[in-house]
Amino acid sequence: MWSEKEQRELEKMLPQYNTKRSAVLSALYLAQQEKNWLDDDDIKAVADALDLTVTDVHSVIGFYTLFRKEPTGKYIIQFCTDLPCALRGATKFYHELAEQLGLPPEGGTTDDNMFTLEEVVCIAACNNAPCCQINLDYHENLTHEEMSNILSKLRAKSEKESTTQP
Ligand code: FES
Repeated sequence: MWSEKEQRELEKMLPQYNTKRSAVLSALYLAQQEKNWLDDDDIKAVADALDLTVTDVHSVIGFYTLFRKEPTGKYIIQFCTDLPCALRGATKFYHELAEQLGLPPEGGTTDDNMFTLEEVVCIAACNNAPCCQINLDYHENLTHEEMSNILSKLRAKSEKESTTQP
């Protein structure tokens, strides 16, 4: 499962840890980087590389919400609709965003696999709602116009990356 590049990164990373198993988060992050989620082969590859069992690795993945076991879009929009944000209109904003992306109210992934939208609880930016994080970048005090601009920029960035990759 490891590409040559990932294998090199893994070999470079492992000596930085006292034990192989201590590298599990970094190894999972590396394994997830290319397609944004981990399939069974990825999980087994991490387990084999770190002398862990597949069950050990699953237990780590289950604990951290940033690791995913199902395909996602390239950009994951985690939109907070928790109570403090809801009081500032986040729920309505979220539903309008879902509609704009052509997704059902419960969110999901766009047909072009560009965006995954999901509702989350507090991301610690309550005072700047509506807010979301997209692949860990925070976006706060959102308006629909700003959100449209963000989505357009991400689409453009993705297109540029796909045309410049060898
Ligand atoms: S409740 Fe939404 S960021 Fe805290």
